Amino acid sequence: MWNSPKVGILGGGQLGRMLVESANRLNIQANILDADNSPAKQISAHDGHVTGSFKEPDAVRKLAETCDVITAEIEHVDTYALEEVASKVRVEPSWQAIRTIQNKFNQKEHLRKYGIPMADHRELVNNTPEELAQIGEQLGYPMMLKSKTMAYDGRGNFRVNSKEDIPEALEALKDRPLYSEKWAYFKMELAVMVIKTKDDVLSYPTVETVQEDSICKLVYAPARNVPDAINQQAQALARKAVSAFEGKGAFGVEMFLLEDNSLMLCELASRIHNSGHWTIEGCALSQFDSHIRAILDLPIPPKSLELLQPSIMLNIIGGATPDSHLKATQAALSIPNASIHLYSKGAAKPGRKMGHVTVTAATMHEAETMIQPLVDVVDTMRA
Ligand code: ADP
Ligand code: MG
Ligand code: NA
Repeated sequence: MWNSPKVGILGGGQLGRMLVESANRLNIQANILDADNSPAKQISAHDGHVTGSFKEPDAVRKLAETCDVITAEIEHVDTYALEEVASKVRVEPSWQAIRTIQNKFNQKEHLRKYGIPMADHRELVNNTPEELAQIGEQLGYPMMLKSKTMAYDGRGNFRVNSKEDIPEALEALKDRPLYSEKWAYFKMELAVMVIKTKDDVLSYPTVETVQEDSICKLVYAPARNVPDAINQQAQALARKAVSAFEGKGAFGVEMFLLEDNSLMLCELASRIHNSGHWTIEGCALSQFDSHIRAILDLPIPPKSLELLQPSIMLNIIGGATPDSHLKATQAALSIPNASIHLYSKGAAKPGRKMGHVTVTAATMHEAETMIQPLVDVVDTMRA
């Protein structure tokens, strides 16, 4: 093998863990910055890890000393520390990209300059009921009140159905920087994983994502009943949006497909993404393989990003009881063609992503039939 550079990863959750799985297969050492025993560290026995948080400048500096390239499995990191260490180690994607993207309002203001279609939105300056009522007049109801920062898995969104919901909405998102977005009447949510390399912007096929309570539940690859023209348009839009940012690696792009078949960007992430987990079984190179290769300037044959077989991914999310996810796993063991990925996060909490299952088959219909019993189990646990 070549004398590989070391990769430093901010964050050791499930995304970091799956990055480590890819790095391990290429004998690439990945040094994780996170708490001891975080999911990524559990599968990586060497003494290069750093204990601490990706929000602590000192810990980021310490990680930079252990590696040649730094990347992140999460965008909510200290980008000022990244800016500082960027003079000593490569940071991929760039700290500028992560800084702009981690604030979703700034992300959208930036993308607007590149002509990316998005739902109309307004910034809140005072977070007062009067201000939001005025915005409601402009955007109409329902509208989605959103936190600019620290938003993920719907934690940061509040659907405002009418003027009467305003006090509750502001209470639910109090002390957070806010903006409000016009309701998008989509018929489907689509997503595309984009891989930015030193001289290319590549994309995986367009997938369909199904959110429940604003959390990703299911991903269908390819998107069902979506004509190839839309699949291609979605990939082109995703690549265009990601091209607005500097740096290499995987980016997850979420989109709305509207009734008139036009596309709108929902948001993007400067990292490997839940909507791309299916690529582990569905493609020759997974999003994690591609991310590692992209940040190290290793070849990525575009053909390796094509779909091998229709795939469905189901998230295993913490449910009503602490062992809900174990019951789902138990059921998954008997599903044909099901690849089970558990994240070893310890105790389940409602809404916490504990693992996922991917089923592949020769046809989408066959994959749907095979995974349905598991979907039924997951739905029962939620109820
Ligand atoms: P996050 O995924 O970080 O929580 P998103 O902006 O992606 O935040 O919102 C989560 C989900 O909420 C989306 O996938 C979509 O289902 C729904 N949603 C978000 N914005 C809108 C909107 N403007 N109109 C309708 N639904 C929305
Ligand atoms: Mg989202
Ligand atoms: Na594979």
